Amino acid sequence: MKNLIRISLLIVFIVGSQLNSNAAEKAEYLKTDWSFKGPFGKFDRAALQRGYQVYTEVCSSCHSMKYLSYRNLVQSGGPEFSEAQAKAIAASFEVKDGPNADGEMFMRPGRLSDKFVMPYENEKAAQAANGGAYPPDMTVLVKARGGGVDYIYSLLQGYEDPPAGITLDDGVYYNKYMYGNKIKMSNQLSDGLVEYSDGTNATVEQMAKDVTTFLMWTAEPHLETRHRMGFKAIVYLIILTVLVYFSMKKIWSRIETEV
Ligand code: HEC
Repeated sequence: MKNLIRISLLIVFIVGSQLNSNAAEKAEYLKTDWSFKGPFGKFDRAALQRGYQVYTEVCSSCHSMKYLSYRNLVQSGGPEFSEAQAKAIAASFEVKDGPNADGEMFMRPGRLSDKFVMPYENEKAAQAANGGAYPPDMTVLVKARGGGVDYIYSLLQGYEDPPAGITLDDGVYYNKYMYGNKIKMSNQLSDGLVEYSDGTNATVEQMAKDVTTFLMWTAEPHLETRHRMGFKAIVYLIILTVLVYFSMKKIWSRIETEV
């Protein structure tokens, strides 16, 4: 029993110090209460739907989302638009298809099976339109940046006038959370920029939170399933530990009493 207590204390200590070091690293970022954090975390459906709206209306003119299909918007664990809503969303985009019988490419309304429409023909065109900087694909951007969601949430609200003594070239902006503080993306959000269909007040903070939640889902579409599995695994391990403990007591009890 003593050993069991020692091992539990050790585990608590290791997990505790891990949490602490993470907290220290991200202290400088703006904080918000993410619904998907923690072992029981779930996405807030309404936030995902609003986040999709911000992505489409604001970010998608520069940032692609090449691994997503319109069908994914219906999938469980995501924004869970109804099939009819997702079909209408897809149909609002023009997709290049073909070649037809005459050997020509043609445009048609999008379908659920289509990938998200790309803002530029190719990477070079994207760079040319953005002063040489490539707006990174957004599907897994949350995973590609240290600081993850807290970083992106902060970055979107981190635009400031440069401090005295720092001059910026044309098309370069000062952002206190960007590495080196210089970013070739201008401030994208301003209060009331989108009109949320659910009536939520579209403040900069709200839009930053919603779009970041959406980006978290695109990067980790199976987060909710993973959390559920994790919970089941922990319950299973606890039951197993108890069983093993009592069977060990039983097996050794004979020897202890014989000695
Ligand atoms: C006008 C085009 C444009 C729009 C619209 C736009 N971005 Fe960007 N974004 C860029 C460019 C260009 C870069 C690359 C900047 C650089 O490398 O300096 C970038 C970079 C980023 C980065 C990565 C920063 C890093 O750490 O490298 C994030 C995150 C980002 N954008 C989020 C967003 C979000 C969220 C939206 C929508 C609310 C958005 N962007 C809208 C052009 C745009």
